[in-house]
Amino acid sequence: MNASFHHIPVLFNETIDSLNIKPDGIYVDCTSGGGGHSSAIARRLTTGRLISIDRDPQAIAVLKERLSEFECVTVVHDNFFNIKNILASLGINGVDGVLADLGVSSHQLDEPSRGFSFHHDAPLDMRMSIEGMSAADVVNNLSQRELQRIIFDYGEEKFAPSISKAIVKAREQKAIETTFELSEIIKSAMPAAARRDGHPARKTFQAIRIYVNGELDGLGDAVGDMFECLNKGGRVSVITFHSLEDRIVKQQFAPLAKGCTCPKNFPVCVCGKKPEAKVFKAVAPAEKELGENSRSRSARLRTAEKL
Ligand SMILES: C[S@@+](CC[C@H](N)C(=O)[O-])C[C@H]1O[C@@H](n2cnc3c(N)ncnc32)[C@H](O)[C@@H]1O
Ligand SMILES: [Zn+2]
Repeated sequence: MNASFHHIPVLFNETIDSLNIKPDGIYVDCTSGGGGHSSAIARRLTTGRLISIDRDPQAIAVLKERLSEFECVTVVHDNFFNIKNILASLGINGVDGVLADLGVSSHQLDEPSRGFSFHHDAPLDMRMSIEGMSAADVVNNLSQRELQRIIFDYGEEKFAPSISKAIVKAREQKAIETTFELSEIIKSAMPAAARRDGHPARKTFQAIRIYVNGELDGLGDAVGDMFECLNKGGRVSVITFHSLEDRIVKQQFAPLAKGCTCPKNFPVCVCGKKPEAKVFKAVAPAEKELGENSRSRSARLRTAEKL
């Protein structure tokens, strides 16, 4: 598995630059994955330290090997939503940079046995942490209304009503067990014209993956926690892969950059609020990267610096 474990990072140089790495600083890579960003950060450290987190046990096994050459790295198997507890348990009070490169890794998508992709026929799984409820459990057990809500909210799929009804009808005959079975059911529930607009199962697969992994509920709070963990001058950088994620990060950062909130007709400020952060303009991939890596298409990098 190790040799094949790969991930093609998106916005790589932009992200490393955004962290403004100091050789003696403490950094956290919340989504270490194939270790690309973690290695680049570790190489820039002298007396500094890097905490590399991932929730995927397969990624952790590879990271322990790949990052073993760096004494400054501590690999942690956990959900980065627990960043405050993770740092507290390591005795770390403040850090100089936090990175989160959200979503799935190329390895998770391309390894058929993980059941994330409509390109490979495999058991319907999609669990990054390989524990808890799988995608098969979700499509076979949730009510039609709940499936419709998930597919609409997390996939922004306008055919959510007919797709959720088709799922419920299909499972009455036989449990839905594989990625191709689900993909065929989705296709059958969409008008022919819509089927030509990219892969018909893309939005529904995204929605179910987000639900299975709890990717959005709690993301705003997690980004808030990342910022709280920073020392003054420290930066948090988040790479998102779809508009739902990006909106959450943007909305979490925006109030941090705001100062006085007194009504405009007040002659002087009475709230005393000062901006807590400098928020940088969102970065999108350059033309060259867009041409080379289709995963980069909707990627955005957002960075905030603690003042
Ligand atoms: C896009 S990949 C990151 C790739 C990494 N930047 C690299 O250079 O190889 C996302 C990784 O984050 C992990 N992940 C996603 N959500 C997570 C969470 N809430 N907590 C911990 N790890 C998470 C996934 O398991 C996956 O390995
Ligand atoms: Zn004020």
